[in-house]
Amino acid sequence: MNYDQTLSRVETYFDKTALKTWERLTSKAPVSRIRQSVRRGRDEMRMKLISQLPKNLSGARVLDAGCGTGQLSEELALRGCRVVAADISPSLIQVARSRIPTHLQKNIEFVAGDMVSPELGNFDYVIAMDSLIYYNRTDLGSLLSELSSRTSKSIYFTIAPKTTLLMLMWYVGKLAPSGDRSPVMVPHSFKSICKELGTKLELTDLGIVNSGFYISHAIGCRK
Ligand SMILES: C[S@@+](CC[C@H](N)C(=O)[O-])C[C@H]1O[C@@H](n2cnc3c(N)ncnc32)[C@H](O)[C@@H]1O
Repeated sequence: MNYDQTLSRVETYFDKTALKTWERLTSKAPVSRIRQSVRRGRDEMRMKLISQLPKNLSGARVLDAGCGTGQLSEELALRGCRVVAADISPSLIQVARSRIPTHLQKNIEFVAGDMVSPELGNFDYVIAMDSLIYYNRTDLGSLLSELSSRTSKSIYFTIAPKTTLLMLMWYVGKLAPSGDRSPVMVPHSFKSICKELGTKLELTDLGIVNSGFYISHAIGCRK
Protein backbone atom coordinates (compact mmCIF):
# COMPACT_ATOMS: atom_id res chain seq x y z
CA MET A 1 0.00 0.00 0.00
CA ASN A 2 1.42 3.42 -0.88
CA TYR A 3 1.54 6.50 1.38
CA ASP A 4 -1.66 8.11 0.05
CA GLN A 5 -3.65 4.89 0.47
CA THR A 6 -2.43 4.47 4.06
CA LEU A 7 -3.17 8.11 4.89
CA SER A 8 -6.68 7.82 3.45
CA ARG A 9 -7.35 4.70 5.56
CA VAL A 10 -5.97 6.39 8.68
CA GLU A 11 -8.20 9.40 8.08
CA THR A 12 -11.40 7.36 7.56
CA TYR A 13 -10.61 5.20 10.59
CA PHE A 14 -9.92 8.01 13.06
CA ASP A 15 -12.41 10.47 11.62
CA LYS A 16 -15.35 8.03 11.44
CA THR A 17 -14.96 4.33 12.36
CA ALA A 18 -13.02 4.71 15.62
CA LEU A 19 -13.87 8.32 16.50
CA LYS A 20 -16.16 7.60 19.49
CA THR A 21 -13.94 4.83 20.87
CA TRP A 22 -10.88 7.04 20.62
CA GLU A 23 -12.72 9.97 22.21
CA ARG A 24 -13.71 7.80 25.17
CA LEU A 25 -10.33 6.10 25.57
CA THR A 26 -8.63 9.49 25.82
CA SER A 27 -11.18 10.92 28.29
CA LYS A 28 -11.73 10.23 31.98
CA ALA A 29 -14.92 8.23 31.30
CA PRO A 30 -15.04 4.67 32.71
CA VAL A 31 -13.64 2.02 30.34
CA SER A 32 -13.06 -1.76 30.42
CA ARG A 33 -10.03 -3.22 32.24
CA ILE A 34 -8.31 -3.81 28.93
CA ARG A 35 -8.73 -0.17 27.93
CA GLN A 36 -7.62 0.93 31.43
CA SER A 37 -4.37 -0.92 30.76
CA VAL A 38 -4.07 0.84 27.38
CA ARG A 39 -4.67 4.20 29.10
CA ARG A 40 -1.95 3.43 31.67
CA GLY A 41 0.53 2.53 28.95
CA ARG A 42 -0.33 5.60 26.90
CA ASP A 43 0.06 7.88 29.95
CA GLU A 44 3.49 6.35 30.60
CA MET A 45 4.55 6.76 26.96
CA ARG A 46 3.34 10.39 26.83
CA MET A 47 5.43 11.17 29.92
CA LYS A 48 8.45 9.29 28.54
CA LEU A 49 8.37 11.33 25.34
CA ILE A 50 7.74 14.66 26.97
CA SER A 51 10.48 14.07 29.54
CA GLN A 52 13.02 14.17 26.66
CA LEU A 53 12.25 17.87 26.14
CA PRO A 54 13.51 20.74 28.32
CA LYS A 55 11.10 21.60 31.18
CA ASN A 56 10.91 25.19 30.05
CA LEU A 57 10.00 25.36 26.39
CA SER A 58 9.14 29.05 26.17
CA GLY A 59 10.04 30.45 22.77
CA ALA A 60 10.08 27.00 21.15
CA ARG A 61 7.74 25.86 18.37
CA VAL A 62 6.75 22.20 18.74
CA LEU A 63 4.76 19.96 16.39
CA ASP A 64 2.42 17.43 17.97
CA ALA A 65 2.35 15.26 14.85
CA GLY A 66 -0.91 13.29 14.70
CA CYS A 67 -2.23 14.97 17.87
CA GLY A 68 -5.47 12.96 18.15
CA THR A 69 -7.59 14.44 20.95
CA GLY A 70 -4.76 16.70 22.08
CA GLN A 71 -3.51 15.08 25.31
CA LEU A 72 0.15 15.70 24.46
CA SER A 73 -0.56 19.16 23.02
CA GLU A 74 -1.94 20.21 26.41
CA GLU A 75 1.16 18.96 28.25
CA LEU A 76 3.38 20.79 25.76
CA ALA A 77 1.41 24.04 26.08
CA LEU A 78 1.83 23.84 29.87
CA ARG A 79 5.59 24.08 29.27
CA GLY A 80 5.16 27.42 27.57
CA CYS A 81 5.91 26.61 23.93
CA ARG A 82 3.88 27.35 20.82
CA VAL A 83 2.29 24.07 19.78
CA VAL A 84 1.20 23.11 16.28
CA ALA A 85 -1.34 20.33 16.84
CA ALA A 86 -1.85 18.61 13.49
CA ASP A 87 -4.02 15.63 12.67
CA ILE A 88 -5.42 14.23 9.45
CA SER A 89 -8.81 13.75 11.14
CA PRO A 90 -10.84 17.01 11.24
CA SER A 91 -13.22 15.45 13.81
CA LEU A 92 -10.36 14.67 16.22
CA ILE A 93 -9.04 18.22 15.76
CA GLN A 94 -12.49 19.48 16.79
CA VAL A 95 -12.43 17.26 19.89
CA ALA A 96 -8.90 18.41 20.75
CA ARG A 97 -9.86 22.07 20.36
CA SER A 98 -12.89 21.64 22.62
CA ARG A 99 -10.85 19.90 25.34
CA ILE A 100 -7.97 22.36 25.70
CA PRO A 101 -8.50 24.68 28.70
CA THR A 102 -9.20 28.29 27.67
CA HIS A 103 -5.99 29.68 29.20
CA LEU A 104 -3.87 27.38 26.99
CA GLN A 105 -5.78 27.93 23.73
CA LYS A 106 -3.57 30.85 22.69
CA ASN A 107 -0.50 28.57 22.76
CA ILE A 108 -1.94 26.01 20.35
CA GLU A 109 -2.56 26.23 16.63
CA PHE A 110 -4.84 23.38 15.48
CA VAL A 111 -4.46 22.12 11.93
CA ALA A 112 -6.52 19.43 10.18
CA GLY A 113 -4.12 17.98 7.63
CA ASP A 114 -1.05 15.91 6.92
CA MET A 115 1.73 16.29 9.51
CA VAL A 116 4.34 16.62 6.74
CA SER A 117 2.62 19.51 4.98
CA PRO A 118 5.28 22.23 4.37
CA GLU A 119 2.59 24.80 5.24
CA LEU A 120 3.06 23.87 8.90
CA GLY A 121 6.48 25.56 8.81
CA ASN A 122 9.58 24.84 10.90
CA PHE A 123 9.91 23.44 14.39
CA ASP A 124 12.35 23.14 17.26
CA TYR A 125 10.94 19.76 18.28
CA VAL A 126 8.49 17.23 16.88
CA ILE A 127 6.68 14.52 18.84
CA ALA A 128 4.79 11.81 16.98
CA MET A 129 3.25 9.50 19.56
CA ASP A 130 1.76 6.38 17.96
CA SER A 131 0.96 8.31 14.79
CA LEU A 132 3.59 6.67 12.54
CA ILE A 133 2.64 3.10 13.41
CA TYR A 134 0.69 2.48 10.18
CA TYR A 135 3.51 3.33 7.76
CA ASN A 136 5.84 0.89 6.04
CA ARG A 137 9.58 1.34 6.46
CA THR A 138 10.04 3.41 3.29
CA ASP A 139 7.17 5.78 4.09
CA LEU A 140 8.33 6.06 7.71
CA GLY A 141 11.80 6.96 6.42
CA SER A 142 10.42 9.62 4.06
CA LEU A 143 8.15 11.07 6.77
CA LEU A 144 11.01 11.37 9.24
CA SER A 145 13.44 12.78 6.66
CA GLU A 146 10.88 15.39 5.64
CA LEU A 147 10.09 16.34 9.24
CA SER A 148 13.78 16.46 10.18
CA SER A 149 14.52 18.87 7.32
CA ARG A 150 12.25 21.36 9.09
CA THR A 151 13.22 20.57 12.71
CA SER A 152 16.17 22.33 14.33
CA LYS A 153 16.56 20.11 17.44
CA SER A 154 15.00 16.66 17.87
CA ILE A 155 12.14 14.42 16.87
CA TYR A 156 10.66 11.85 19.24
CA PHE A 157 8.42 9.17 17.82
CA THR A 158 7.14 5.67 18.48
CA ILE A 159 6.98 2.47 16.48
CA ALA A 160 4.96 -0.71 17.00
CA PRO A 161 7.63 -3.25 18.08
CA LYS A 162 7.98 -6.64 16.39
CA THR A 163 6.36 -8.77 19.10
CA THR A 164 4.78 -12.11 18.19
CA LEU A 165 1.29 -10.71 18.82
CA LEU A 166 1.78 -7.56 16.73
CA MET A 167 3.37 -9.58 13.92
CA LEU A 168 0.37 -11.93 14.01
CA MET A 169 -2.01 -8.94 13.87
CA TRP A 170 -0.05 -7.59 10.95
CA TYR A 171 -0.34 -10.87 8.99
CA VAL A 172 -4.06 -11.13 9.80
CA GLY A 173 -4.50 -7.49 8.71
CA LYS A 174 -2.78 -8.23 5.42
CA LEU A 175 -5.20 -11.09 4.83
CA ALA A 176 -8.25 -8.95 5.70
CA PRO A 177 -10.95 -8.78 2.99
CA SER A 178 -10.38 -5.89 0.59
CA GLY A 179 -13.60 -4.22 1.84
CA ASP A 180 -12.05 -3.77 5.29
CA ARG A 181 -10.51 -0.31 5.12
CA SER A 182 -9.04 -0.17 8.64
CA PRO A 183 -5.38 0.84 8.69
CA VAL A 184 -3.00 -1.97 9.64
CA MET A 185 -0.22 -1.40 12.18
CA VAL A 186 3.19 -2.18 10.67
CA PRO A 187 5.67 -3.45 13.29
CA HIS A 188 9.32 -2.36 13.00
CA SER A 189 12.51 -3.06 14.95
CA PHE A 190 14.93 -0.35 16.09
CA LYS A 191 17.53 -2.07 13.93
CA SER A 192 15.43 -1.81 10.77
CA ILE A 193 14.72 1.88 11.42
CA CYS A 194 18.48 2.43 11.83
CA LYS A 195 19.04 0.67 8.50
CA GLU A 196 16.55 2.99 6.81
CA LEU A 197 17.67 6.24 8.45
CA GLY A 198 20.89 5.62 10.37
CA THR A 199 23.13 7.28 7.77
CA LYS A 200 21.05 10.49 7.63
CA LEU A 201 19.86 10.79 11.23
CA GLU A 202 21.21 9.96 14.67
CA LEU A 203 18.76 7.60 16.36
CA THR A 204 18.47 6.82 20.07
CA ASP A 205 16.63 3.84 21.50
CA LEU A 206 14.43 5.18 24.33
CA GLY A 207 12.91 1.82 25.20
CA ILE A 208 9.59 0.05 25.18
CA VAL A 209 6.50 0.79 27.26
CA ASN A 210 4.46 -2.35 27.89
CA SER A 211 1.36 -2.17 30.09
CA GLY A 212 -0.14 -5.49 28.98
CA PHE A 213 -2.54 -4.31 26.31
CA TYR A 214 -0.44 -1.37 25.15
CA ILE A 215 3.04 -1.84 23.75
CA SER A 216 5.03 0.82 21.96
CA HIS A 217 8.71 1.61 21.37
CA ALA A 218 10.07 5.16 21.75
CA ILE A 219 12.87 6.50 19.56
CA GLY A 220 14.70 9.82 19.54
CA CYS A 221 16.12 11.27 16.35
CA ARG A 222 18.25 14.24 15.31
CA LYS A 223 20.42 15.30 12.40
C1 LIG B 1 -3.06 6.19 17.52
S1 LIG B 1 -3.52 7.84 17.26
C2 LIG B 1 -2.49 8.73 18.39
C3 LIG B 1 -2.96 10.14 18.68
C4 LIG B 1 -2.08 10.94 19.64
N1 LIG B 1 -0.74 11.11 19.16
C5 LIG B 1 -2.07 10.29 21.00
O1 LIG B 1 -1.10 9.58 21.31
O2 LIG B 1 -3.06 10.46 21.71
C6 LIG B 1 -2.75 8.20 15.70
C7 LIG B 1 -3.14 9.57 15.17
O3 LIG B 1 -2.25 9.93 14.12
C8 LIG B 1 -2.98 10.58 13.11
N2 LIG B 1 -2.18 10.51 11.87
C9 LIG B 1 -1.62 9.42 11.29
N3 LIG B 1 -0.92 9.76 10.20
C10 LIG B 1 -1.03 11.11 10.08
C11 LIG B 1 -0.50 12.06 9.15
N4 LIG B 1 0.27 11.69 8.14
N5 LIG B 1 -0.79 13.36 9.35
C12 LIG B 1 -1.58 13.76 10.38
N6 LIG B 1 -2.11 12.90 11.29
C13 LIG B 1 -1.83 11.59 11.15
C14 LIG B 1 -4.31 9.85 13.10
O4 LIG B 1 -5.34 10.57 12.48
C15 LIG B 1 -4.55 9.62 14.60
O5 LIG B 1 -5.26 10.66 15.20
